[in-house]
Amino acid sequence: MERELSLEFVRVTEAAALASGRLMGRGDKEAADQAAVDAMRAVFDTVHINGTVVIGEGEKDEAPMLYIGEKVGIDDNPSVDVAVDPLEGTNLVARGLPNALSVMAVAPKGHLLHAPDVFYMDKIAVGPKARGCINLDASVADNLKEVAKALKRDVPDLTAIILDRPRHKQLIAEIREAGARVKLISDGDVSAAISTAINNTGVDILFGIGGAPEGVISAVAMKILGGEIQGRLIPKDEDLNSIYCKDHLCSGKLLLLEDLVEGDDIFFAATGITDGDMLHGVRYRGATADTHSLVMRGITKTIRNIYATHTLEMKPHFVSKEALNR
Ligand code: FBP
Repeated sequence: MERELSLEFVRVTEAAALASGRLMGRGDKEAADQAAVDAMRAVFDTVHINGTVVIGEGEKDEAPMLYIGEKVGIDDNPSVDVAVDPLEGTNLVARGLPNALSVMAVAPKGHLLHAPDVFYMDKIAVGPKARGCINLDASVADNLKEVAKALKRDVPDLTAIILDRPRHKQLIAEIREAGARVKLISDGDVSAAISTAINNTGVDILFGIGGAPEGVISAVAMKILGGEIQGRLIPKDEDLNSIYCKDHLCSGKLLLLEDLVEGDDIFFAATGITDGDMLHGVRYRGATADTHSLVMRGITKTIRNIYATHTLEMKPHFVSKEALNR
C-alpha cells in the first residue's frame, strides 16, 4: 500500500469525529454513532482503495452501512481489508466523557482476524518496553512482576487499566492484591490498549475482557507502536460458539499479535472525538473546527500526530451545525 494513503485514511476518521463530536453530551449514543457512520461512509467514497469491510457495524442484515462484506473505496487496487469503528465509545460521547475516538485500520486481504462482535476478547496489552514479558495464561501477579522488571520499576509503580465491569471483579481484586495501581474505565478499551504504548499516558498494562473487533483494531496500532497485545475469543452467547468455531475463530485459542494482524503492510488512523489520554477531542470554533489524529504506517513505523483545522463551509453537510437538526 502506498504511503500517501495515510492522509486519505485520516480524512475518513476526521470526518466521523467532526460529525459525531457535534452530539457530545446529548445523551443519545445512537445518534452520535449514526453521525459518525454516515460521515465515515461518505468519505470512503473518495479513498483510492478496493476495500472490503471485515470489521464494521455488524452483519449486512443488521447494519445499513459499513457492514461486514461491504465494498469501500473507488479504485481496483490495492485490494485491502478494512476494520472500522466510526465511534469507539458511544456512551463516552453521549455523556461527554473522555477517550471517544473514531478509528480505522487497513491491511492486505486476509491479514486481519475476522472477529465478529458476537465475540468478546480477553486481552492483555503492554507498550514496547514490556513487549515479550506478558502471557495471558500467566497469573495477574506474574504478569505485573515481569512488566515491572522490564520497566525497571516496582509493581506498586505500575498502573493497570481495565473496563469497569462486574465480570472483572476477580481480576480487579487480583491486580489490587498484587499491589499495582488501577485505572477503571467505563468504556473505550481501544484507547486504553493503545495508551499502554504511548509515552506519558501514565498507563502501563491493560487487562480484561472487551469487544473482539476492538481487540483486532487495537492490535494493528500495537504492532506499529512496537507494543504487544494477546487475546482469546469468548463467545457472548455459548450457542454461537459452534457456529463460528472453525479455524482460528474457535474460542479458547491464545491469539498472539501475528494471529490478530499479519505482516507489517498495515495502516492505523484515529481521530479524537472527546478529549483523551492520547488525542484531543474536536474543538468547534464557529466557522472552523480543529481535530487531532494519529496516523501510523506499519512498513516504516512512522507515527504522525496530525492537527487539522477544518473550514466547515467547505465540508459536506454532515459536519455542519445544521446537520444537528436533520
Ligand atoms: P461501543 O463504542 O460500541 O459502545 O463500545 C464501547 C466499548 O467500551 C468498547 O471499547 C469495549 O471493547 C466494549 O464496549 C466492551 O463491551 P461491553 O460494554 O459489553 O462490556
